[in-house]
Amino acid sequence: MRILVTGASGTIGGEVLRQLLAAGHPVRALTRDPARAGLPEAAEVVAGNLAEPDTLTGLFTGVDRMFLAPAFAVARTAEQVVAAATAAGVRRIVTLSSGAVVDDEPGVEDADYHHADEVTVERAVEAAGVEWTHVRAGEFMANTLDWAQAIRTTGVVSSPFGKIASGMVHEADIAAVAVAALTQDGHHGAKYVLTGSELVTPPEQVAAIAAAIGRQLRFEAISPAQARASWQAQGYDPAFIDWMLGPEDAPLAESDFVGAAELTDDVERVLGRPAHTYARWAADHAADFR
Ligand SMILES: NC(=O)c1ccc[n+]([C@@H]2O[C@H](COP(=O)([O-])OP(=O)(O)OC[C@H]3O[C@@H](n4cnc5c(N)ncnc54)[C@H](OP(=O)(O)O)[C@@H]3O)[C@@H](O)[C@H]2O)c1
Repeated sequence: MRILVTGASGTIGGEVLRQLLAAGHPVRALTRDPARAGLPEAAEVVAGNLAEPDTLTGLFTGVDRMFLAPAFAVARTAEQVVAAATAAGVRRIVTLSSGAVVDDEPGVEDADYHHADEVTVERAVEAAGVEWTHVRAGEFMANTLDWAQAIRTTGVVSSPFGKIASGMVHEADIAAVAVAALTQDGHHGAKYVLTGSELVTPPEQVAAIAAAIGRQLRFEAISPAQARASWQAQGYDPAFIDWMLGPEDAPLAESDFVGAAELTDDVERVLGRPAHTYARWAADHAADFR
């Protein structure tokens, strides 16, 4: 059983690749640039671009199962890529999707900035006549690696989201669920919505990183307007800024930056153990913040 991992140099695909190799599965890994990707030697590394199906000739030959990510790379070519895969004999596809996808959404055009691509890819895979599983991940704990430079240089993390508790999920849990769906039976047609096992606010996350690296750190609450100015100065995608903070001419109110996400137990149902905590993630990544 040969498994193809796309997005293999990324946060989740990389972890899927490592877990599959550790379990002894033959794995082919896709990257646009093998020289830069630094993928493990045990993987069969293949060059190709999901957005340019002409570059994928031979990619699927001898492959039984595929992890398909990231959605933004393949949304516009999803039908072609999935058709080429199934024509070559791929019988099972596990997608990396988003917890923001909801099943009663009437159409892709109704999905918002951040998950329209996931809706498109999910639908292409469901229509392909293969076994499929969608791994709908919630907010990655790994997103807080964005704080690494500020933590190393100033010891201060600034955010307008200090009062929003998140059920963030460890990349190892997302990957472990994907690996289960790729390698075990009983996951066809499942849409797993993955969160961690607890709700954590940004000040609590900063405190967990401080404990992991043994240094005092400070969380600083800033207004949405201050966040917008900072992100614009750092060159963030304007559409991303509007999605996070509301459009500049109709920004979200401060009161919108309070709240809590919901937790699911899908990690535990699939893996038979609770999802990792943020403190565990911070310990796993201590070196990134030192
Ligand atoms: N961040 C979150 O909280 C969150 C939550 C739920 C879902 N998601 C979704 O997760 C996905 C991102 O996953 P990630 O963080 O693991 O990715 P990532 O670390 O940003 O890495 C992106 C990967 O995609 C590959 N890639 C990019 N464009 C490609 C193309 N045209 N053809 C082939 N490969 C391409 C890159 O490979 P090469 O550069 O080596 O080619 C790389 O391996 C996004 O779709 C996002 O919407 C994110």
